[in-house]
Amino acid sequence: MVNYRIAKIPGDGIGPEIIIEGVKVLEKASELNNFEIDWIKYDNGAEKYLKTGELITEDTLKEIKTTCKSIYLGALGDPRCRPGILEKGILLKTRFYFDQYVNLRPIKLLEGVWCPLKDKTPKDIDFTVVRENTEDFYVGIGNRAKKGSSKQELEVVRSIYHAKFSLDIETDDDEIAYQIGVMSKKGARRVIKYGFELAKKENVGTAYFVDKANVLSDIYGFWRENIEDISKSYPNIKPEYMFVDAITMWFVKNPEWFKVVTTPNMFGDIITDLGAMIQGGLGLAPGGNINPGGISMFEPIHGSAPKYKGMNVANPLATIWAGAMMLDEIGQQKAAEQIINAIQEILKEGKVKTKDLGGTNSTSEVGDAVVKKIEDMQ
Ligand code: IPM
Ligand code: MN
Repeated sequence: MVNYRIAKIPGDGIGPEIIIEGVKVLEKASELNNFEIDWIKYDNGAEKYLKTGELITEDTLKEIKTTCKSIYLGALGDPRCRPGILEKGILLKTRFYFDQYVNLRPIKLLEGVWCPLKDKTPKDIDFTVVRENTEDFYVGIGNRAKKGSSKQELEVVRSIYHAKFSLDIETDDDEIAYQIGVMSKKGARRVIKYGFELAKKENVGTAYFVDKANVLSDIYGFWRENIEDISKSYPNIKPEYMFVDAITMWFVKNPEWFKVVTTPNMFGDIITDLGAMIQGGLGLAPGGNINPGGISMFEPIHGSAPKYKGMNVANPLATIWAGAMMLDEIGQQKAAEQIINAIQEILKEGKVKTKDLGGTNSTSEVGDAVVKKIEDMQ
């Protein structure tokens, strides 16, 4: 029997509760499809960090790299830690380490789910956002300089800033901070190609690309140039460019236009929260951090919701759906489909749902319902 070793990182807040449900469902799907999953649990997250100072070590990442097929992640973030510590130290670190350069986020309104957009139905909201996942403003190049900063720090800031503004850092009020977005030709082209390939696979005539080339013209002008060039290899697909501010408007007004939307990292972060809302809420939005041919990581888009930790009320469906995406990626398409069909059916029936969807069921009841539905639909 095929056996997959999967690294499981439950993480913080509601992470452990929703991962339990995801594992429950994936176990059932594996049983019915004759494969096995060995879960290797990693306890990285706030608790470990606060106790030991460890976020995630190179050794851990290397161990995952050499022994696991994929990663299943709950959520990270804890009010006891300064914002960014766990997010950068564990989540982004892992995305970068495994070079998971595509963040794939389906925006799909399922039947039975309340949509905040008037008159929009499941056939109107059914697309995929392909978010670049390793570059742009996420590269972590930035700094602050103020009175008393080292000469070198001041020089860097001056070289960036002084050309435009007459800058002199003489008093505390003259402090400056900057953060730089970086895009490499290779980094841009691989995700752009992924977007075109997805459009081709789905027989889509127009592929949308997001930027802000009217203002941030160096970085996003470069982005467009590469799209233009790559589009020559896809004569049947028309690239359509949209500024990020405009696309937020069209997501709300005409979501039916979109099938495949490829976007730089930071804009992708922003527009997929909007996407999650139009598909019925963060409780239903899954994502995959993909390195085609490498080790990918699957997680819900939502955060750790510390307020609801341990209460058994969080919606596990985004995590379960992310688990289905993982099965699809590792080659178990049938099992993945069964899970998604079961989620779809449960939402359509509307009998079992958590509070975010207007129901009264618990996290584990929803997980159990998905398991039962998979069995019933066999
Ligand atoms: C997401 C999250 C992360 C991101 C944070 C937690 C680093 O918002 O997955 O969308 O910005 O990518
Ligand atoms: Mn986000």
